[in-house]
Amino acid sequence: MAKRTIVSLPGDGIGRVVLEETLRILEAAGFEADYIEGDIGWEFWTKQGNPLPQRTLDLIAEHKIALFGAITSKPKEAAFNELAPELRTKGLVYSSPIVGLRQHFGLDICIRPTKSYLGNPLNFVRRGANDQIEEPLVDAVIFRQNTEGLYGGVEWTNPPQLVYDGMMTHPKFVQNFGNTPKEEISISTRIFTKKATERILRAAFEHAKKYKYPSVTLCEKPNVIRETSGMMYKMAQEIQKADYPTIELWNTNIDAQMMWLTKNPENYGVIVAGNMFGDIVSDGFAGLIGGLGFAASAQMNPDSGIGVFEPTHGSAPKYAEYDVSIVNPIAMIESACMMLDFIGEASIAKKIRAAVAEVITEGKVKTYDMLKMVGRPNVIEKGAASTQQMTDAIIEKLN
Ligand code: NAI
Ligand code: MG
Repeated sequence: MAKRTIVSLPGDGIGRVVLEETLRILEAAGFEADYIEGDIGWEFWTKQGNPLPQRTLDLIAEHKIALFGAITSKPKEAAFNELAPELRTKGLVYSSPIVGLRQHFGLDICIRPTKSYLGNPLNFVRRGANDQIEEPLVDAVIFRQNTEGLYGGVEWTNPPQLVYDGMMTHPKFVQNFGNTPKEEISISTRIFTKKATERILRAAFEHAKKYKYPSVTLCEKPNVIRETSGMMYKMAQEIQKADYPTIELWNTNIDAQMMWLTKNPENYGVIVAGNMFGDIVSDGFAGLIGGLGFAASAQMNPDSGIGVFEPTHGSAPKYAEYDVSIVNPIAMIESACMMLDFIGEASIAKKIRAAVAEVITEGKVKTYDMLKMVGRPNVIEKGAASTQQMTDAIIEKLN
């Protein structure tokens, strides 16, 4: 098979560290690829005024597959103040390059698997009926619509007159907000389209079918948010009935789901939700399997075959300055495994996951988060493995 070209997007802070370590793992596992580094992140904002340069978009469009570390984002004013002086008069406004990537390439399918590793000291435990401690194994995969809904960016403070007048045609707006001056109103919209909703629902059902999950849980709030959540639920019912009759469709409300996931997380398999609720429920499940050091994600557009694979954690800037890196590389490594699955290299992904599982179950090498330490440089003296040591331990199991 021809050697692949992968775009590597290290970004900022610990993104650079965990991506470098992950490339070592991929090589040790026998995955042959050339890597081209793409520019993204804070440095390109401050020095060039664009955290996501066109040349990076071109690279991704050409090679289709990217591994992304993490970027640093800052609020509007702070972002402006760090711009190079000569760029300050250009009317530049910072916006997150990762959200930009999603929208530019229509990466509307986001997958966030949360599966516990046997022996991970961070696994969720509970007290059972006979007072014994139970450790239910979690294996939930969250399908999050990644481009619309509350993250669609259609929002205003003191909305334009035309928008306000349009709103005033809705009886509920008149009733609840009609007496509030326009200047005192902020509006963030939650727009769902049928096309994108159908795509995420079908992706979830397909996954359930392929990996033999008995159910798909739609996690929204259709009884209250009747139009968007309501449409999604109705479409889920139709799709299930027509094409996936052997897979059960469950319907939970996001609020109740956040309670149930710490009572009986083992009952859930594939979960599908809109953008905001998908973000919330996936973080909730990630907490049950070890948190940010373990939370991987894939974002893809199956039509174009473009996929960007990244840990859900950010750039944790203060940790990036330590002489010896202490962060857990597993979330990034898991994200690379999702990339391998996507490009038809599932057997290499399987090998890597088995090596990670072996290191965790053996329990000899643990990063600071797995030891429940506070992240400081001295965690290494106290027995925590460095990022590199964790990588080395996984590579040893691969060999
Ligand atoms: P963060 O995820 O960078 O870090 C939060 C805390 O989680 C860290 O202080 C650390 O205690 C822990 N942590 C994160 N990754 C870890 C790992 N691999 N191993 C062990 N512990 C880990 O989130 P924070 O501090 O809210 O944001 C820092 C910067 O990252 C901000 O500029 C933010 O905008 C950006 N960010 C970027 C994301 C992305 O690139 N997709 C996502 C989230 C935040
Ligand atoms: Mg999040």
